[in-house]
Parts: sequence; C-alpha cells; structure tokens
Amino acid sequence: MKVTVVGAGSTYTPELVSGLAAQREHLQVDELVLYDVDGARLEVVGGLAQRMLAAQGLDVTTTLTTDRGRALDGADAVLLQLRVGGQAARLGDETFPGSCDCVGQETTGAGGAAKALRTVPVVLEIAEEVRRRSAPGAWVVDFTNPVGIVTRALLDHGHRAVGLCNYAIGVQRWAARLLGVSVTDPEQLRRVAVDPAGLNHLSWTRRVLLDGEDVLPRILTEHLDDVVAQYPFPPELVRLSGTIPSYYLHYFYEHDRVVAQQRTERPRAAVVADLEAELLRAYADPSLATKPAALEGRGGAYYSEAAVDLLASLLGDRPGTHVVDVRNAHVVDGRVQPVVAGLSVDDVVEVPCEVSSAGGGTVRPLPQAPLAPEALGLVQHVTAYEQLIGRAAVTRDDDDVRRALLAHPLLGQWDLVEQLLPGVTRRAGS
Ligand code: G6P
Ligand code: MN
Repeated sequence: MKVTVVGAGSTYTPELVSGLAAQREHLQVDELVLYDVDGARLEVVGGLAQRMLAAQGLDVTTTLTTDRGRALDGADAVLLQLRVGGQAARLGDETFPGSCDCVGQETTGAGGAAKALRTVPVVLEIAEEVRRRSAPGAWVVDFTNPVGIVTRALLDHGHRAVGLCNYAIGVQRWAARLLGVSVTDPEQLRRVAVDPAGLNHLSWTRRVLLDGEDVLPRILTEHLDDVVAQYPFPPELVRLSGTIPSYYLHYFYEHDRVVAQQRTERPRAAVVADLEAELLRAYADPSLATKPAALEGRGGAYYSEAAVDLLASLLGDRPGTHVVDVRNAHVVDGRVQPVVAGLSVDDVVEVPCEVSSAGGGTVRPLPQAPLAPEALGLVQHVTAYEQLIGRAAVTRDDDDVRRALLAHPLLGQWDLVEQLLPGVTRRAGS
C-alpha cells in the first residue's frame, strides 16, 4: 500500500512515523511518500523519518519529493497536513481580529475565516489531482484546519474524504490516566471510550465509558479539579454542561476574557514558530532516530496514533470506532436521517464512527442522542457559518464572505463585518 503525506515538511511527521511503527501488524505500508513544497524542510524532516523507520526495522520505501503529481500517483491514502502560508500566515490570522476586539484564532472567528478561504481552494486542487492520479477509491484523510470546513468542501466535490482531529483521542488518553488505565497497553486502553458529538473544534464529550459503564458523572463530581486542570473552563460551567467541552469552546464561552489575555500574550503562531525552529535543528542531527520530547509542546498530541489507527481501520485489518468528521447522515429504517438532530444530512459533524475496510473503506456514524438545546443552538449557528464560508472559498465573492462573517456567532454585526472583511480577504490569498 502506498501512503502519501501532503505537507510532510510539518514537524508532526515523525509522530506519524512512530504511529506506522506501532500499527505495523495491522497496516501494511509498502511505500511512504513524503511530499512538501519546501524541499529544504522536507530534507530535514524526511531524513529523520527515514532514520526512524530504519531504527524500527520497518521495511517501507520512503520517497521525499516536491513533485506533487509523482507523490500522488497510485496512492491508496493521502494524508493532508499542509498549512497554506505556514506559521507566518497563521500569525496574521491570529492577530488582525484583535483590532476589533475579536478573538484571534486560526480555526474560529475572522482568523478562521481567512484560513478557510486560503486553504479550501488549495485542498480542492490537490483532491482533484488525487482523483486523476491516485489509486481508484483512494482515501483523503484531512488533518488540515479548519477540518470541518475543509472536509465539507471535499465531500461536496465528491471526494472520498474523512476529517480528523485529536480532541477525542486526547480526552480518551486523559480519562484513561485519570481512571488508572494504562495508556501504553492497547488492550487496556480499549476499556476506555469517549463519545463526543458536535462539530470539529465545537464538540462536547457527553460520556466516558469504562468497560461500557458511563463514568463521566462520577468524574465530574469527584475529579472536577482534574477536569479543569486539563480543560481550563470555570468549574461551574463544566458542572453545568455535564460534559467535557472541547478546548475550542473557550473562544465562545469566554470570548472577551480570551481577547483580553491575547493583548498581553505572545501569539501561538510565534510560539510554534520558535518551537519548530528548535525541532528542525534537532531533526537535522544525523544521530537522532527518535522523535524528540519537545514535539509534545505542539497541540497535536496523539495525532499520529489517531491518523494511523484510522488508516488501519479504513485500509487494514483492524476495524474500530473513531471520532471523525463525516456527513451528518445515516440510514434508519431505510431512510437517510441526520445523526445529530437539528442539522441537515448535508452538514459535516464530528462524531464516533464505525470504520472498517469493507467495500474499500466504510465510515458509519454511530447514532447520537440529541444535543442539549444550548449546545445545539451554537452548533447550528456555527454550521451556517461553515456552510457559507465554504461556499465563499469557492466563489471568492466578497458578498459570500460577508454572509459568512455575519452568520458567525462571534462576529455577526454589520460594522464588524465591514471592518474585518479587508483583513479576511487579504489573508485569503497569502
Ligand atoms: C489541536 C487541534 C489541531 C491544531 C493544534 C494546534 O491539536 O486539534 O487542530 O492544529 O491543536 O497545535 P499548535 O501546536 O499548532 O498550536
Ligand atoms: Mn483539531
């Protein structure tokens, strides 16, 4: 099997390689193609990837290339982890909304809109090339943000795609530790399952199952301090929600507080740029053949495991449940019905899905209890924005961008829309 990574110059790539090593029995990868537009960076990251594979005794042909067509030729799975414009573009996304007292964040608000406009066309172009050159039925696994919007665009254009985030796997690993379950023993780890529902970066874990029993109510009463140490919300808010909210809900529930904090903090893009420089220096050391501990400073913890485990279910011999971004549709009594009630079957949600390799890969969302009204209201609101910004990314029409910004719950006022529009559209092209 040939797996191609687009944006392989990312410092996350060594994560992926360690994931491949861990799943070697369930996922037979013969060829790993690491593709990036930045050849120098690819050399450094790819060099470490090759040394890691050799050190693990994995017999995988690894190709580093800046030739996209060659990278995609005959691929069975294409993993998207590119970041259009790199951390420099992210820095812009995170800073320009502050001039309007709006949160600066790369996946939500005006910054997220700019990133969506910049990213969707690039991803769609790559996906068209996948369609032309990759193996028939090849899967596109998207980790490129904003994952919900990008996945929706891919599905709307008829691509075989699924979106991926590390929120769920992070909660599962955290809960396992809290419950005293080993996170290094896969058999043990399987005893703990989480059940988040909503959108990408806008979801709530409503159950934590230990051996099939929901222990979340107990966690929220006995370990609320641990919950908020990891997911830093006001404890009363967490208690009230009865869930573990995704970290990104912080930008909604505590918007003004975050804006005030952002006035004094270094932007995350600057922090990550420094961290990446440090990581790349470490990766360049020819004696290094493992991922450095500093990589844990990135937000994408367990990304590799999530991605490779997903591939092992989609294309290998290990069916399983994965929390992924899919169409909000399943068949009940012979009729197509929404999985998350209150959204359309065309919308994209992030929910647990049964994934197997049947029929070249099947991703079937599990039924979901209705969201609480306060969660559903927000989800519907953001879904409207996601639909509109996805459309604007294709039409490039300023009025479509205005409609999307007007629909965003953190924006929504005409004056703000007019003030932010130039910044959003300028960054869309970078
Ligand atoms: C989390 C999110 C990812 C996001 C990352 C940012 O892992 O799920 O979607 O890209 O955080 O991490 P960074 O280290 O780039 O700030
Ligand atoms: Mn994510």
